[in-house]
Amino acid sequence: MSARAVSNIAAFDALAIRREFPILDQAVAGKPLVYLDNAASTQKPEAVVEAIAHYYRNDHSNVHRGAHALADRATEAFEQARMDVANFLVGGKGGVKGGVKREEVIFTRGTTEGINLVANAWGRSNLGAGDEILLTEMEHHANIVPWQMVAAATGAVIRVAPVLDSGELDLTAWTALLSERTRLVAMTQVSNTLGTVNPVAEVVKRAHAAGAVVLIDGAQAVNHFPVDVRELDADFYVFSGHKLFGPTGVGVLYGREALLDAMPPWQGGGEMIERVSFSKGTTYTGLPWKFEAGTPHIAGVIGLGAAINWLGGIDREAAARHEQALLERVDTALAAMNDITRIGVAPGRVAVASFLLAGSHPTDVGMLLDQQGIAVRTGHHCTMPLMERFGIPGTVRASFSLYNTFDEVDRFIEGLDKVRSFL
Ligand code: ALA
Repeated sequence: MSARAVSNIAAFDALAIRREFPILDQAVAGKPLVYLDNAASTQKPEAVVEAIAHYYRNDHSNVHRGAHALADRATEAFEQARMDVANFLVGGKGGVKGGVKREEVIFTRGTTEGINLVANAWGRSNLGAGDEILLTEMEHHANIVPWQMVAAATGAVIRVAPVLDSGELDLTAWTALLSERTRLVAMTQVSNTLGTVNPVAEVVKRAHAAGAVVLIDGAQAVNHFPVDVRELDADFYVFSGHKLFGPTGVGVLYGREALLDAMPPWQGGGEMIERVSFSKGTTYTGLPWKFEAGTPHIAGVIGLGAAINWLGGIDREAAARHEQALLERVDTALAAMNDITRIGVAPGRVAVASFLLAGSHPTDVGMLLDQQGIAVRTGHHCTMPLMERFGIPGTVRASFSLYNTFDEVDRFIEGLDKVRSFL
């Protein structure tokens, strides 16, 4: 680590940040908790917990249809969160010409629902027999199964681009699979299992040149670095609140207005109609509500807005440098253990360390770490095709966030050393 890197890290106070996360201050198995399962879900700062509690204590009502003060307050907070998301989607550069519009921000239950929405509403009306959907081997099941379902319904064909041994996307092979038959490209920006950061701007450029529409799964990206969907030129971009220091059960689908406008609604019900009639037929309301049937997760949306605002107060470049320094420390330690096989070593990856310990099952390693108060995830991480590609049943995955510390890295490595001596 260079002296310059050290001084940059010193400027970033992870200890002060973690004090805003009361859940991190607890003992598990008699030891201070070391939470390294951030790719599964990040913890929530007090600001988010408080925003949700405040909403329920003071402002709760249903949104958009009430004629009273509480309904107005709830609606205002809900729609303000939509504007906060719009701003967030252009890297916080809100108000700039060409920024994301309110009409382009659809609240969902999460990344999975966002992809299902696009697969159903866009896919079923735009895909036909022989059309191709281009995926990669590193996609999460959420970015595979909805496409398999829509392919089965429409006769579209799924093509899958390979992953290199390093965990990088084989961009040459991906490009070779792109053709005038490709109607839809879906790709994760960051692999949840490997931490690989895909060259999505280049992917979008090439896909558009081939005439394809592109959906980017940003679930594992937005908590590590700012994203500008306009700069990326993505047609659809999805992410979840709970991996971004916000609540579970809420997420966002960004879609280009013209595409969303041309899509039929997916779910029917309240909120998404203009008029319902048995005799005269039913008409739908405009964007974004056309895709938000039913009472939304109002508190979740408000909590997500609070998470985005909280993140707005963080020096994100410094946070990313801090995470990279944590990863460097982990990588150095793991590389020195000759019974550890690291899965995913792509240059520039985010702070995710996936690995196997020779002669042991990932579940056993996870359990023995848990007995020392260290939380990691084990298994296939909802990426079974990727496990198949590497010929492994699963991995142990330690995933880091901006509130993790060097001491925690050391605790993890010591804990792993103990496990190695047991197994
Ligand atoms: N997709 C989440 C993970 O990677 C659940 O753990």
